[in-house]
Amino acid sequence: MLRTMYGQAKLLLGHGKEGSHLISISTEAHRTASSTATNFSVQPQPKQQQPQQPQVPKAAVSRARLARHLELTWRQGSASHFPLTWLRDNCQCPQCYHPESKSRTVDWATCDVTIKPKDVQVSDDGKTVIVDWLDAHNSRFSAEWLHERRFEEDARKKWLSTYKQKKHIWGSAQEENFPRKRFNFSAVMSTDGGLLQWLLELEMRGVAILEGADSDESTVRKLAERVAFIRRTHYGEEFNVKSKSDPSNVAYTEQALQLHTDLPYYEYKPGVNMLHCLMQAQGEGGENQLVDSLRVAMQLKQNNPEAYKALTTVPIDWSDRGVEDGRPFQSLHRAPVICEDAEGNVVRVNYSQPQRDSHFSVPLEQVDGWYLALKEFTRLALSDENCVQYKTKPGEILSFDNLRILHGRSSYSPAVNQIYERHIVGAYLDWDEIRSRIRVLSQQEPTPLAH
Ligand code: OGA
Ligand code: ZN
Ligand code: ZN
Repeated sequence: MLRTMYGQAKLLLGHGKEGSHLISISTEAHRTASSTATNFSVQPQPKQQQPQQPQVPKAAVSRARLARHLELTWRQGSASHFPLTWLRDNCQCPQCYHPESKSRTVDWATCDVTIKPKDVQVSDDGKTVIVDWLDAHNSRFSAEWLHERRFEEDARKKWLSTYKQKKHIWGSAQEENFPRKRFNFSAVMSTDGGLLQWLLELEMRGVAILEGADSDESTVRKLAERVAFIRRTHYGEEFNVKSKSDPSNVAYTEQALQLHTDLPYYEYKPGVNMLHCLMQAQGEGGENQLVDSLRVAMQLKQNNPEAYKALTTVPIDWSDRGVEDGRPFQSLHRAPVICEDAEGNVVRVNYSQPQRDSHFSVPLEQVDGWYLALKEFTRLALSDENCVQYKTKPGEILSFDNLRILHGRSSYSPAVNQIYERHIVGAYLDWDEIRSRIRVLSQQEPTPLAH
């Protein structure tokens, strides 16, 4: 065991595959904040070898606070800084961490966020860092574990690559021969690689077609359960889209469905829509229209910032009322058409003529500008460069991102004597479950996450 108090020493620190790493340790906290002047600096690195600090707004952080970190220098010469409070918060001992549930249990009510170490050591094999805290607590961290959690930008980017897939925005030029890719239903059902490939396409492009499914009403449920759990809504779990005598939704008619996203009136809107074609309309009609709303939003933002502002700020009352299976429902959710996150990324689009309430609960002066903006958004969405058409065949499942892709359906002729009646079975999945599945599968499968 090499100790680092009151002196200088070179230490070997390993982190997994990359082998042992020669390091030095220092804690800035003790240089600047400790009255006992305990100094862990064992081999200060020359200035030019210091790693890039994480991007913190310096103006908002005091010098003393900035200095509260432990510096570890890896064998290759690069150094990493770990905040002392973060180290204490992430102590892996049984008092602070429950290994079976992989959960932090540090008592935050009593945890001292200004805690300092009394001593820092590195095991002889360089694989473990041991911190003795001034409150007599003791923490051990594996070098590999620390290395993975470095605050440097490259390490943070690597971690975040497992969070969400980068979106590939498309227009009809990129989808000329729609669909760009087809996925074999049996391969998706029976191989993890097949499942992963489909889900990645779904997240990146927002739309994917499976083929070769049988014509069973329970197929789409089996597919949903292969991924995670089927998402229930007031229309049930699987729902039959066909012409009905007393329809609770305009989809259950032979009429055209204008471009829309499903269920905008749910605050927690189902993330993915799967439409399994059991029987397609024999004559004209019954095609689906598909539009990447991210491209439309991007064009609107560039060409007409005022319209974009209206669609991102004016809240709309999305609603649905009715009775399904004897249960009355009255859903309502208020949100703009284009919903952005704090960084201005579009995270959800709501768009549906039938499900926009006639209550427009905004100040009078916002109304006209909003209508003009919606008209422009619709014009762009329907333009040839953005809208693709596809008529699904029996055995195909059209899957798409319901937060992003606008979809529609052209009208079709009624079946004669109920023979060859158009019949689609739909079901929903949630993005939280899909993303979890993608992460688990990516760890097992050789397929790289980004492609
Ligand atoms: C729907 C829908 C498409 C179709 O039911 O919401 O979009 O092809 N259906 O019938
Ligand atoms: Zn602990
Ligand atoms: Zn729909």
